[in-house]
Amino acid sequence: MTSPTPRDLVGCPAAEELLARWIGLDAGTIGAASIARAVRNRMDALRLTEPAAAVDRALADPAERDRLVEEVVVGESWFFRDPQVFAFVARFVAARASLPDRGPVRILSAPCAGGEEPYSMAMALLDAGVAADRFSIDAVDVSHAALDRAGRAWYSANAFRNADLAFRDRWFQREGSLSTLDETVRRQVRFAWANLLDEAALATLAAAYDVVFCRNLLIYLTTSARAALERTLDRLVAADGLLVVGAAEPPILGGQWIPAGDGSVFALRRGIRTAAPVEPVRPQPRATSAPPTARADAMPATPAAPVTAAVPPAARSLDEVLREAGTLANARRFAAALAVCEAHARSAGPAPELFFLMGMVHQSAGDPDRAEGCFHKTLYLDASHDEALLALALLAGQRGDAVMAEHYRRSAARIHDRKGTA
Ligand SMILES: C[S@@+](CC[C@H](N)C(=O)[O-])C[C@H]1O[C@@H](n2cnc3c(N)ncnc32)[C@H](O)[C@@H]1O
Repeated sequence: MTSPTPRDLVGCPAAEELLARWIGLDAGTIGAASIARAVRNRMDALRLTEPAAAVDRALADPAERDRLVEEVVVGESWFFRDPQVFAFVARFVAARASLPDRGPVRILSAPCAGGEEPYSMAMALLDAGVAADRFSIDAVDVSHAALDRAGRAWYSANAFRNADLAFRDRWFQREGSLSTLDETVRRQVRFAWANLLDEAALATLAAAYDVVFCRNLLIYLTTSARAALERTLDRLVAADGLLVVGAAEPPILGGQWIPAGDGSVFALRRGIRTAAPVEPVRPQPRATSAPPTARADAMPATPAAPVTAAVPPAARSLDEVLREAGTLANARRFAAALAVCEAHARSAGPAPELFFLMGMVHQSAGDPDRAEGCFHKTLYLDASHDEALLALALLAGQRGDAVMAEHYRRSAARIHDRKGTA
């Protein structure tokens, strides 16, 4: 990648506009400099001297437009990202697949990046004993490079970020630093190119799906693109189907999507949003002793809270704690979910993932102030936590603070930019 030049930093509004119109990208989320750098790369490849000429080429030639898109899309994904979501959806699909006189359960992963998400779902279902002919998974993405990776189905360590990697031993063959996915899982997923903001390209996805995953795309879109995608999702999800979104995304959707029964915060179904009774989250008095790690002053002060699991919190891994808290949150047991996180923070020390999850739980419990506090604490511990920044941007936007929303989005964009150039 070419190093940034002063011209990169000025930005390229014509390219920003093209990308907003074509794939719905909000330039603010990845930063004008990232887009300018993408244009610069295309100029170098095409031996052009003016950004306007590169944009003209992208406007005139769909293949060149796709190359520009490849330069800007955020393809970050890993296996079993938010693992509790897969456990929840596996139960939903297993129940549906066992119904007599019903065809295979249909699942869509859109966008699917390099296949990590749809393959995770296939593994979860096969592990749950759902017969291979009782479900099918379609997976689409706008990135040809991502779809190529998905088709090859070999992955580096970066795709395996959870502590529990038992699935890797069951379903992958290790060859040096790469892990190749078993054919049994691969044949469950059918990949295709699609731009989710282009209704015409979605014609092949006409039938309604039992489950649609649309995770970690809405946060990157402009307001009008979000609205358009929400209309598309409405069409793609069957009347009694599930819509699964990313951790920071439920507040983006309109009121017709509610947490799925006793199910999941991020797995949604159609319904009317009401002030459903939830476990109350009690006010938290100040603690007398500080937690044992850096920035302890910034940590929440909480009393000893009951932990639901029999195993003492310190003996459990962060992953186990996050899974338990996620399951409780999914069942709308918000206070219990927070207690599990807080107990672990007290005994094992604070972790950004704990505070991020607590922020999401407070958000789901309808407490944006505490949610905001937790996202700030996430950032104290991990200043490069871009999901926390985007969650803060959403909260600021919701309370009408456009300036702060923009500030957080710019910070997230800078981090994205640094990761992209690292
Ligand atoms: C951050 S990844 C999310 C992947 C996966 N859903 C997950 O949560 O791990 C975002 C993906 O969205 C894709 N994407 C961006 N804009 C798109 C669009 N308009 N249509 C389809 N895919 C798009 C990108 O290529 C990228 O692979």
